[in-house]
Amino acid sequence: MTLNSRLLIVLAAALFSAASPHEMWTKVTLTHHWPNTFCSMEHCHPNISYWSLHGLWPNNGNDCNSTWHFNSSQIEDLLPDMRKSWPDLLKPTSFSFWKYEWFKHGTCAAEADALNSQHKYFSKALELYHKLDLSSVLKKFDIIPSNKTYNFSQIEEVIQHFYGVTPKIQCAVSTKNTDVQTLGQIEICFDADFTLLDCEKQHITETDSKRGWHQLDGVDTPSGFKVCDHDIPVYYPPLL
Ligand SMILES: *[C@@H]1O[C@H](CO)[C@@H](O)[C@H](O)[C@H]1NC(C)=O
Ligand SMILES: *[C@@H]1O[C@H](CO)[C@@H](O)[C@H](O)[C@H]1NC(C)=O
Ligand SMILES: *[C@@H]1O[C@H](CO)[C@@H](O)[C@H](O)[C@H]1NC(C)=O
Ligand SMILES: *[C@@H]1O[C@H](CO)[C@@H](O)[C@H](O)[C@H]1NC(C)=O
Ligand SMILES: *[C@@H]1O[C@H](CO)[C@@H](O)[C@H](O)[C@H]1NC(C)=O
Repeated sequence: MTLNSRLLIVLAAALFSAASPHEMWTKVTLTHHWPNTFCSMEHCHPNISYWSLHGLWPNNGNDCNSTWHFNSSQIEDLLPDMRKSWPDLLKPTSFSFWKYEWFKHGTCAAEADALNSQHKYFSKALELYHKLDLSSVLKKFDIIPSNKTYNFSQIEEVIQHFYGVTPKIQCAVSTKNTDVQTLGQIEICFDADFTLLDCEKQHITETDSKRGWHQLDGVDTPSGFKVCDHDIPVYYPPLL
């Protein structure tokens, strides 16, 4: 290859990436929430006592394609599982949660061939959710909802040991009672090949503005969630 043609290729690649509005993602986060905690903050009435899906969030941004409309007919076959595993806790019979997640995260995830359709995006999230089977894992290691409190390290270690990666665990905190925190959200991370990846490790290399981008929106994460504190007992509330 001549120097000129090599230069041309480099130039073309630079132009292409400049024209492409969003970079490919390198990490995707599968987020689970505990319905009881979510509902205590958002005023809904949970009727399930397992960890349900919140979303599948790639790290290349939000709202990547506003013209790619959510169309429930394309995930018709997934709907029974969606209703069970990924319920809209606020409006159980509507599509609004999935539509929201598609626009905000799915359209960005779709930059990768593996997730470049609504069916691929939602079915991959369900597949990862079932593969992880978080509710069963916690139960198996005696982390069960109850009205006693847990040592946070105990919960974190169970997840870390079982999956072999560091999760990101968020708790709801109350300004009134700072002696306890309530288990709310558990995030497990994957690389672009859907191989498990440490959630925290990646955060260190991210810039501050990028870190926590998915915590900015009220619907996506109820305000009042933050990374659990190692020194505060954790409440894992049972369904009342
Ligand atoms: C929870 O409530 C929703 C909406 O009323 C209903 O569709 C769903 O079947 C219920 N789930 C369970 C497990 O009872
Ligand atoms: C956005 O989505 C529309 C509809 O699927 C598609 O035609 C278009 O190519 C997408 N744009 C980008 C930049 O991916
Ligand atoms: C939704 O998807 C279905 C099935 O692919 C298609 O027939 C229909 O035209 C789509 N609706 C819209 C509004 O794009
Ligand atoms: C904790 O749960 C047990 C069994 O469900 C119940 O008998 C007890 O009153 C509860 N304690 C508190 C402090 O709520
Ligand atoms: C919590 O557990 C860790 C490790 O299992 C232990 O080192 C620590 O002392 C415990 N903290 C409390 C407050 O019990």
